[in-house]
Amino acid sequence: MFDVKKIREEFPILNQQIYGKPLVYLDNGATAQKPKSVIEIIDVLHNKLNANIHRGVHYLSEQCTEQYEQARGRICRFLNAASPREIVFTSGTTASINLVAYSYGQLSINQGDNVIVSEMEHHADIVSWQLVCAMRGAELRVLPFEDDGRLAVEKLPQLMDERTKIVCVTQASNVLGTTPDLKYVINVAHSAGVPVLVDGAQGVVHGGVDVRELDCDFYVFSGHKLYGPTGIGVLYAKEKWLEQMPPFMGGGDMVKTVTFAHTDYAELPLKFEAGTSNYIGAIGLGEAVNFLQGLDMTSVAEHENRLLQLATEKLSTIDGLRIYGNCPNKCAIVSFTVEGTHPYDLGMIMDKMGVAVRTGTHCAEPIMTHYGLTGMIRASFAMYNTEDEIGTLYDSVVKAVSMLR
Ligand code: ALA
Repeated sequence: MFDVKKIREEFPILNQQIYGKPLVYLDNGATAQKPKSVIEIIDVLHNKLNANIHRGVHYLSEQCTEQYEQARGRICRFLNAASPREIVFTSGTTASINLVAYSYGQLSINQGDNVIVSEMEHHADIVSWQLVCAMRGAELRVLPFEDDGRLAVEKLPQLMDERTKIVCVTQASNVLGTTPDLKYVINVAHSAGVPVLVDGAQGVVHGGVDVRELDCDFYVFSGHKLYGPTGIGVLYAKEKWLEQMPPFMGGGDMVKTVTFAHTDYAELPLKFEAGTSNYIGAIGLGEAVNFLQGLDMTSVAEHENRLLQLATEKLSTIDGLRIYGNCPNKCAIVSFTVEGTHPYDLGMIMDKMGVAVRTGTHCAEPIMTHYGLTGMIRASFAMYNTEDEIGTLYDSVVKAVSMLR
């Protein structure tokens, strides 16, 4: 049986009051809270072990290097990647997508080519490609979604042609919670020899991934949404792509030898890790993965689904409240509006009741445009949220709406 009380004990931040009310943290899609083990390892690293990695023969440097590479190995196993050579540490999902966009773009995208992104992508998976398309003279095409939040994957074949160079799709929408049929997308793209990038920022948290089983070419996520530190993220890429792609940034650690005439790059994955990387963040992320692997992830997913169902049922009873994203298999995210109220006003009143939700466009403005909105409220759930907190969410919306109306 999933013991949420025990889980909550691992997250010290949850045990506090905001404006005199117990904190109900429902902004996990923006960033998740950290378990004690992650906080502690970062503390130990700063207090006892800090030294730059890959650069020193001294004890501290060797210890940090070893732990950094162990974290890479842990993440490799967590994703079921074929080798740690396929795991590149970045500063987060956005940095990972930009790396692929610029580097793969330089390798493969030319005048007259096209790139396909879905209509439900986060800005990180839209703007990076827009920039690269503008630079390379390529076209950005959009795979649409239906009003119920389902990604219309069956429209992909007609959107693709012989000039399509990459297809980019989220594993789970940060607004709608939709988990598109990635298997279908990848089959269609691969049958035309086109690689697929999967944005796993939200998806990796709710159910993880097996990149080899999925057979995606690129998979990206951030540490801070996965109960790890901020400023660290991962790019998984099939080795065949990383071998061919040029480095995204130049600097120390990504080189073998440098002369003014020529530079030989370091072996994978360091070719893509220029400069002093966030090694403390990477080790912290390794610890977050370790924490997750110590749990029964099936029970965690069941718990989050129960919260999603309960929240959907309760919120749906509120007059004028509309939930966006109603597909089966959606992840634990509920975005909504309430007629006659503005999301910011609602969010601010809910905050005074201790309830932290996200308000606004959620970095996915095209989704707002789809529904003719300027913003929504989003409650996103994590393993440590409780059924009582869903009750508080409901009460806070009811109270805020009655004040605003
Ligand atoms: N991408 C983050 C979110 O969905 C910040 O809130």
